[in-house]
Amino acid sequence: MLPGPQLMESMRAVGYSLKTAIADIVDNSITAEATTIDISFNAEAGSTYVSISDNGFGMDADGVRQAMKLAGRNSTSARAAGDLGRFGLGLKTASLSQCRVLTLISKRNGSLVGVQWNLDHLAESGEWQLLVLSEDDLLGLPHARYLDDKVSGTVVLWEEIDLSDPDQAGFTEDFTARMADAKEHLALVFHRFLEGEDGQKITIRLNLDRIAPADPFLSQNRATQLGHRERIPVEGGEITFRPYTLPFINRMSAKERSQAQLNGPLRDNQGFYIYRAKRLVIWGTWFRLVPRGELGKLARVQVDIPNTLDHLWALDIKKSAASPPPAIRRALKQVIDRIIQPSERAFRHKGVADDSGRGVMRTWLGLSSREGFYYQINREHPLVENLVDQLNAEQLLALDTALKAIESSFPVTDAYVKLSGDQPQKSPETTETALRDLAIGYWRQWSAGGGSAEDFINGFKAAEQFSRCRDTHALLTEVTGLGVTP
Ligand SMILES: Nc1ncnc2c1ncn2[C@@H]1O[C@H](COP(=O)(O)OP(=O)(O)OP(=O)(O)O)[C@@H](O)[C@H]1O
Ligand SMILES: [Mg+2]
Repeated sequence: MLPGPQLMESMRAVGYSLKTAIADIVDNSITAEATTIDISFNAEAGSTYVSISDNGFGMDADGVRQAMKLAGRNSTSARAAGDLGRFGLGLKTASLSQCRVLTLISKRNGSLVGVQWNLDHLAESGEWQLLVLSEDDLLGLPHARYLDDKVSGTVVLWEEIDLSDPDQAGFTEDFTARMADAKEHLALVFHRFLEGEDGQKITIRLNLDRIAPADPFLSQNRATQLGHRERIPVEGGEITFRPYTLPFINRMSAKERSQAQLNGPLRDNQGFYIYRAKRLVIWGTWFRLVPRGELGKLARVQVDIPNTLDHLWALDIKKSAASPPPAIRRALKQVIDRIIQPSERAFRHKGVADDSGRGVMRTWLGLSSREGFYYQINREHPLVENLVDQLNAEQLLALDTALKAIESSFPVTDAYVKLSGDQPQKSPETTETALRDLAIGYWRQWSAGGGSAEDFINGFKAAEQFSRCRDTHALLTEVTGLGVTP
């Protein structure tokens, strides 16, 4: 028994959003070997539409009918390596999740053909009636003229968009905002096509605005670390891994930062970036193989899977939920340990008290007790020692009280919130001039207390403040005037 046409209405609930639905249509254009894809929209309530037009190989009259069929193609049959489709459903389900009228216009061998699914018509007639449009009907539709100057191509037109109630205030703004969101989504998921990797360059435009690729690995930034490519053979296919460690946040431009943040702070975007036939399908997850830690937040791994392994990955219709099979999970786990390390190292390098800082006189000490960790000003730092030497008992007590007050109010939570919100921390000035000024200040204080130049140099040469200095000894010597004695 055939399902009733209300099936179309039920399929609206598959869970597409405007952006994922548009991306699904773009998939089809890419599979059709398009080099230019034009997306247009009108957000005014009453005359809404979205069109996705391409210069791909198009379809003839039979082709468009077949394309509009649910599962018009077998989901288990082999597909060409670059085919982004799998189920024979996307065009219908993605489109009708967003609109009530779907028109497919196509051109191949010179003739224009068009068919339409209209949900209201299906409901009224109670029959599976695909409307065939005449050339006159077609030319009255937005963007049908797009194909005039093209040998072949396709226009997918969505009308009566019902994302929310069109009569409600703010509909147009909401629609427009979602299209802006869609633009970012396309820039990300198709970035490798937009970049023209392997010479397959595709232009995608939104209302004629060219969409620039958004590479989640910031590979153009010289501070990004690129790991070794690894291949794991799986059931006759091959999965490729490529680890990246993003630069520390202070070394990202504001644009790069927002590009790397995707849908939230860096911490939430670490993990595997799964590409199916070069199209990003899932990202920012370790598949629960390891917890998402603050220290791994710079680690991202590009994973390439060919469409021949779809059956392994339990792909869903939207191709947005997929989980790796046990054999691959085991391999992933091994790769992970090697991968997160560089990201953690990038962080620890910036840490307060750690082993890499041996030989450096820290101003703050990171300590821990059974109740937890805390920070204390290092009483052995020459600045503190020098001060202590100059004070009487009463003043010492005052100093101790002041230091304790400073320590107890160290804004550790605030710093944590800011860092995990990816706010860049302004590093202290480390230019030679700034360091010299600092040294002069210290020397004044030191010599005022009667300390010798030699003790000053020996005391301060390891101070954290000068760890970025090229030659601390020379700087301190110069400052104390030792270097100018004949
Ligand atoms: N822009 C296009 N140009 C040429 N052919 C197209 C285009 N869009 C769709 N088609 C044809 O229509 C068919 C159905 O598309 P649809 O998106 O429904 O399924 P699919 O891409 O095969 O699989 P999936 O459900 O995984 O997307 C495609 O297989 C293709 O043959
Ligand atoms: Mg498709």
